[in-house]
This record gives sequence, structure tokens and C-alpha cells, in this order.
Amino acid sequence: MLDYDTEAAVYDATRGGPQRAEQAAAAIAGLIGEQGPVIDIGGGTGIVAAALTTPGRPVLVADASTGMLTAAHTRLPGRAVRADALALPFRDASVPAVICVWLLHLLPHATAEAVCAEAARVLAPGGVFATTVDKAAAHDTGSDLDIILRDLRRAAGADSRAADDHAHLGRHCAALGLTEAATTTFTGTGQGRTPATLIAHLRDGRRFAWMGDLPAEAVGAALAALAALPGQHTRRPDPRYTLASWTTRVGAPPLPPWPPSPDSTPGAPTPATRSPPGPPPRDTRLGERSGKRPPAARRAPPPRRTPWKTQPPTREQP
Ligand SMILES: C[S@@+](CC[C@H](N)C(=O)[O-])C[C@H]1O[C@@H](n2cnc3c(N)ncnc32)[C@H](O)[C@@H]1O
Repeated sequence: MLDYDTEAAVYDATRGGPQRAEQAAAAIAGLIGEQGPVIDIGGGTGIVAAALTTPGRPVLVADASTGMLTAAHTRLPGRAVRADALALPFRDASVPAVICVWLLHLLPHATAEAVCAEAARVLAPGGVFATTVDKAAAHDTGSDLDIILRDLRRAAGADSRAADDHAHLGRHCAALGLTEAATTTFTGTGQGRTPATLIAHLRDGRRFAWMGDLPAEAVGAALAALAALPGQHTRRPDPRYTLASWTTRVGAPPLPPWPPSPDSTPGAPTPATRSPPGPPPRDTRLGERSGKRPPAARRAPPPRRTPWKTQPPTREQP
């Protein structure tokens, strides 16, 4: 995986900027509705989270990279928290909506599955989990570039199932007790590749997770084929990304409205602070994870919500 601490400086500008974020956020909003607060797992610089945020739908970025979190904290002060996607600092069944954009495809298969399990753990009854799926396939628009790239992927043994394979994640989420709800797409406007950009990406072997240990000859042959294409700086068609969503138990009671009712307890545990030992407080919607996950069928109804705050990311933060 890329070093996102250093990538943070160029991340937004090289991934479609605000336009991509707004398109992604609009598609996500169509899947999760007005449910909030939302946890954005691997939320990076917060560019999508900020576009998704509304007064009634605050979004919290949970990410592992200091560089990305620093950008997110600038964008969404107090709403960026250091967190491992495999151990989210939230209680079981406490979060109305969890999103995950452009993360699962970067992970080993078992890790991607574990991230889904963690999302399912923190989702409140009636909550929604939405994630991008089939990202590599989104980029394959059948252009002359893609034909060359397909050969290279085959040489890398990358034709087998991707970690964000929609069908596989669907089966996995079903096993976690989630119900598939909807699928939508959004266009990566301006993200169509040119031969020149693809050559640059291939030369920088970090850009594609699947490149692995590809033999230098295979990469060299692809580079030569790409360099011979016409329109070296002409963009091929834009990718169209897919998002899928799953919900917890169908027919779960509707979530209480946001903002919280005036009787919420101020100062209740937040994602950046530890809860005292013992059972989780009953009046906190988003709080510290409590350890063991109760069976879905025995989950308690969601407690009332309390506003949450986070600290700016620091290296010392756990
Ligand atoms: C491709 S970026 C996507 C950022 C953001 N979702 C977006 O679409 O703009 C992947 C992000 O996942 C984060 N990440 C990778 N592994 C993680 C993990 N185990 N836990 C939390 N975040 C992780 C990286 O730091 C990076 O910010």
C-alpha cells in the first residue's frame, strides 16, 4: 500500500479533487439517506466526508495515517480520529451509518472481510454500511489502454477476485447478518486515463496494488505498447465507480432524530477518549468500543445520541 502520510500532500489533487468528492458524496447520500452521524472508515483527507456532511448528518473520519488525518482535521475540525479499520473505537451497535470509500480494494482479502465485520459490529440496528466495490473494474472502460492493462493484470495473476469484489462482499456481509440494500454508481469525471498518465503510474510501481512482483519484462512490454498508442495526452473514457450498501436487521425501529434531544448527557465518552471500565453508558450513541460483540438478535435498541468530538491527530494518539 502507498505511504499515505506522504501521499496526503497530493492525494486530493490527484484523485479527482472536490468534483470526485461531491459526486461520491451524492451517491453515498442516496444510499444512506439522512442517517447520521456517519463514520468514514479510511476517510483519508476528509474530502468525501466534508462533501457528505450536512447539519443533520455529521461525518467522522476514521483513518490510520497521520498525514491524511491532518488534512482531514483541517477540513473537519474535531471530526478526524486515528483509528485502525480493524478495531474501530466505537461501541457495538452504536453508529447509524458507516461508509468506506476506496479502501477495500487496497487490502488483502481477509483484511477487507474483517473491515466489513468491524463495520457490521458498530452499526446500530437499522444502520447502513456503504462501500465502493469493484474499483479496478470501474477503470476498465474497454479502451485501447485497458486492453494493454488487462494483459498486464493477467501477467500479475491479478485476474482472480479483487478484495472489493461485490459478489464476494455480498456473501460475506450476508454471513455477518447484513442485508444488501442498494447499489449505485458515480462517474469519476476527469479521471479517464491517458497513455502518458498510465505510463507514469506503471513506472511508479506503488500505484497499483496488484502489480506485486511483476517481472520487469512484462512491465517493459506494457510501457512500450502504451508509448506506441495515439493520443498520448488524450483522456480515455471516465471510470464509473460502484457503491453498494447493506443494512442491519430489516424492520429495525427508526433511529431517533439528530441533533440529540436536550436531555442528552454532555461530556459522555467520545471516539477519542476511553470509556471507564464496565458496561457502556446508555445515553451515548457513539462511544468507545466495549469489547465483545453481542449476537445481532440480542442487541439492545440504540441509545439516544450525544454529540461527539475528537482530538486533532497526533503521533502520540493511540
Ligand atoms: C485510497 S485512500 C481513500 C481515502 C478516502 N476514503 C477517499 O476516498 O478520499 C485509502 C485510505 O485508507 C487509509 N487506510 C488504509 N489502511 C487503513 C486501516 N487499516 N485503518 C484505517 N485506515 C486505513 C489510508 O490511510 C488512506 O487514507
